[in-house]
Amino acid sequence: MKEVGTEKVMARLRILSGMRPSGKLHIGHLLGALSNWRRLQDEGNETYYMVADWHALTTEYENSEGIQSNIIEMVYDWLAAGLDPKKSVIFVQSHVKEHAELYLLFSMITPLGWLERVPTYKEALEEYEGREIATHGFLGYPMLQAADILVYKAHAVPVGQDQLPHLEFTRELARRFHHLYGEVFPEPQSMLTETPLIRGIDGRKMSKRYGNAILLSDSEEETTQKVMQMLTDPARKRRTDPGNPDICPVFDLQKIFAPREWVERVDRECRTAEIGCVEDKQALARYLNEYLRPFRSARSEFASDPKRVKAILAEGAERARASAAATMDEVRKAMRI
Ligand code: TRP
Repeated sequence: MKEVGTEKVMARLRILSGMRPSGKLHIGHLLGALSNWRRLQDEGNETYYMVADWHALTTEYENSEGIQSNIIEMVYDWLAAGLDPKKSVIFVQSHVKEHAELYLLFSMITPLGWLERVPTYKEALEEYEGREIATHGFLGYPMLQAADILVYKAHAVPVGQDQLPHLEFTRELARRFHHLYGEVFPEPQSMLTETPLIRGIDGRKMSKRYGNAILLSDSEEETTQKVMQMLTDPARKRRTDPGNPDICPVFDLQKIFAPREWVERVDRECRTAEIGCVEDKQALARYLNEYLRPFRSARSEFASDPKRVKAILAEGAERARASAAATMDEVRKAMRI
């Protein structure tokens, strides 16, 4: 018995992850990042979950008025999804100034070419075309992310595929720091979050930016309305045409949210035109609403008490700061400043 306990303690990892404050989250976030974060928390790891508001500012500095409400709306979703301030340190990046100090110190040792070569950088320059993001801050995006991770000496960072270049950058920067000043940080590993492909109501990848998302905070009516608008197999024009569930976004969601018997039935009866898309969507809306009901009631409880949520973030910042400050003492000592 005792040994099992020891093993558990040894397997406890320090984990950090973050999201930019994008406001209300959608069902893809719940199935991907949030359920993974929650599992890591409940497995007893030392988990830090951060709202990356400075990162948001790198692209949204012209629209900064929305950031505060985006932070709080996103944190309601986090808490309703089961992130628990008793188990995890839940905080806002800008509340912990140590990130900025480490970022500054890293800026002394980071070659410009490293930043320019991060693949997400050039892609973003094209994607955000029309907005001026050829700024120092945006170029430094991965360096700030490295500071977020290393200031907590995180061992592991759960992220989606798109963030892997930033993790690689973080490890390289840690190695350069160690080469110059001696060993301070663990080399953080990425933990890839497997997210099922969630398509939005227009059939494209679900994303708030496309306006095709089913939000976690939508009402049951809104959810039903959105589901009823969903695209299905485009070749199935009439009720009597047989359909192909394998390419149908409604069927994708059913596989996640509906009971197996229903999925099997649709799989048979769509192909033979026994069941129609309307009935199919009505069922999906029902299952989805059922699935989200406990989440939504928890969310409206948090949302009715913003003071409590602010207190959670204040306490999270305090705990985060204690840990970050200890790392910074070591960093300054290593750098002799
Ligand atoms: N760049 C990440 C994203 O866009 C957010 C982020 C900021 C982050 N700092 C982090 C993720 C540190 C993991 C670790 O999703």
